[in-house]
Amino acid sequence: MPFKSKNEPFPFPNELYPDDWFRRLTPEEIFPGRPEAPVEVDLGCGDGSFLLAMARQYPERQFLGVERLLGRVRKVCRHIGRSELANVRAIRVETSYALSHLLPPGFADRVHLLFPDPWPKRKHQWRRLMCQPAFLGGVHALLKPGGELLFKTDHEGYFAAAVEALAGNSLFERIDWSGDEFFYPVTDFERLWMAEKRLIQGLRLRRVG
Ligand SMILES: C[S@@+](CC[C@H](N)C(=O)[O-])C[C@H]1O[C@@H](n2cnc3c(N)ncnc32)[C@H](O)[C@@H]1O
Repeated sequence: MPFKSKNEPFPFPNELYPDDWFRRLTPEEIFPGRPEAPVEVDLGCGDGSFLLAMARQYPERQFLGVERLLGRVRKVCRHIGRSELANVRAIRVETSYALSHLLPPGFADRVHLLFPDPWPKRKHQWRRLMCQPAFLGGVHALLKPGGELLFKTDHEGYFAAAVEALAGNSLFERIDWSGDEFFYPVTDFERLWMAEKRLIQGLRLRRVG
C-alpha cells in the first residue's frame, strides 16, 4: 500500500488513493463527473508512457494505470501533472487485488496487459497472469459486455502458455489484431525488446457473455 513521504505530496495529484481499501470503488469515485466516458485500464503500467500517449490521443476516454511499484506510480503521476491531462490516473496496488477487491464490475471497455513479467523459470510459471483462471475471471468481470483484453509479450513461452490457457477457457474469444486497426503506442518495455529484435506477439480478446 502507498505510504507517506516527507518530501512528496500525499497522495499524489492524479493518484487514485481510496479512503477505504476494503470495498469496491464506484465508477464515480475513480473518474468523477464523466459517467458516460469509455474507460481503459492498463495493468502493470510501468512508467506510464503507453498510458499517457493513449490519454493524449483519446481525450474523450478515461485511463487508469495500475502498478505495484511506488516509484513507478510516482513517476506516472508526475508525468500526468506535467502533461495537464485530466483523463488519466494511477493507483498503486497489485493487479490481483485491484481485480478481486477494488475495481467495480463492468467498469472497463478495454483492459491492457502489456509485457507483464514472463516468469521464465518453470517453478514460477504459475504466476503468469494470463494463465491464471482467477485473473481471466477478474478481467472478464471488470469488462463491460463486448469489452476487450489486449495482451502483448516478447516471451514466446508465455505467449504459447497464454494461448493454451485461453483454449480451455470460454470467457474470451480471440479476434484479429494485425496491429493496424487502431492507434496503439509502443510501450517502454516494447521499445527495449524491439531494439533487441525480439519477437513481439499479441492477443486481442473479446469478452464473451
Ligand atoms: C515488464 S514491466 C512492463 C511495463 C509496461 N506495461 C510496459 O510495457 O512498458 C511490468 C510492470 O508490471 C508491474 N507489475 C508486475 N506485477 C504486477 C502486479 N502483480 N500488480 C501490479 N503491477 C505489476 C511491474 O512493476 C512493472 O512495472
